[in-house]
Amino acid sequence: MKPIAVIPGDGIGIDVTRECMRVLKRVNEVFGLALEFVEFDWGAEKYLNEGVSLPAGAFDMLRNDFSAILFGAIGDPRVPDNRHAADILLGMRFGLDLYANVRPVRLLHEKLCPLKNERAEDVNFIVMRENTEGAYVNAGGVFKKGTADEIATQEEFHTRKGVERIIVFAFEHAHKHGIGKVCMSDKSNVMRYAGDLWQRCFKEVSSRYPNIKTRHLYVDALTLLMVRNPSDFRVIVTNNMFGDIITDLAAALQGGLGMAASGNINPNGVSLFEPVHGSSPSMAGKNVANPMGSILTAAMMLDHLGFVQPATAIEDAVRKCVAADKTTSDIGGKLGTREVTDEILKHIAKSAKGKE
Ligand code: IPM
Ligand code: MN
Repeated sequence: MKPIAVIPGDGIGIDVTRECMRVLKRVNEVFGLALEFVEFDWGAEKYLNEGVSLPAGAFDMLRNDFSAILFGAIGDPRVPDNRHAADILLGMRFGLDLYANVRPVRLLHEKLCPLKNERAEDVNFIVMRENTEGAYVNAGGVFKKGTADEIATQEEFHTRKGVERIIVFAFEHAHKHGIGKVCMSDKSNVMRYAGDLWQRCFKEVSSRYPNIKTRHLYVDALTLLMVRNPSDFRVIVTNNMFGDIITDLAAALQGGLGMAASGNINPNGVSLFEPVHGSSPSMAGKNVANPMGSILTAAMMLDHLGFVQPATAIEDAVRKCVAADKTTSDIGGKLGTREVTDEILKHIAKSAKGKE
């Protein structure tokens, strides 16, 4: 048995996770995966009713009792500073040491790309975003708040261990997949101390992979080249904040946030899989959200668990629906969240027949 913790969260996280579960349950049956699902109601509703964001003991339970975590999205306007969101999502990234935020960028069909003349195979890279430190450590302070002399500081932490392990993770991925190049991006011309650490780690780690070509780009230059020439890139490794920013741009290259999948990986423990999009409260409950980001995320999770064939079956089904415009309006179709899933399920049924 492989128990999966399912956390739909808030807003469209609930809508897309419901549909994603239909797909997961189907492949579970068809391919005999022995997955078992346990759903958790962590999110705004629980926080508002009970004052609980992440229940006590959650980390130990997730670590000890589950093979993977499937997450929807979090954020609700009724919780003004979205406190619960930071507790739950960032809490799990830190608390479970999910240090590699892996965000594949693959264009499933050229019509989804906002750039002119880009072929589907030209947009095919992966961003390895450091996920446990940098600007996300919530360090800093405020002095003389609300006065004309107010001072706010916001600090970044970059540790030798943290920087090295994400760079190793990126090179290992390239090595395992026969990818011949890795690009590291920072802003070391301005952020000298952190930049210097990233530069030295990158140099040292890369020397252990003599067959992999390296490239360094300042993050401003990287954004320009991602738009101008996305086919230049195969593996990009960067810090937490830059990774956050460039993966929204990267989502646009593959059709928008509705199409982007991600994994928050702890190679030595339990990992969490979530679509890149947020909870989009204004779209919630209306059967309009694109479920493909979540469904592709589930495929990533299956692949991570070693279920390569079912993962590929899901991806193929999504690709076919995109090709046939069986999609939601964000990527040009006319269908609702449920109807897109119905179409994906039809293709999975066909690939299951082919399997027999
Ligand atoms: C993401 C999101 C989160 C982040 C927010 C919701 C805290 O934008 O996963 O990309 O900044 O990491
Ligand atoms: Mn983001």
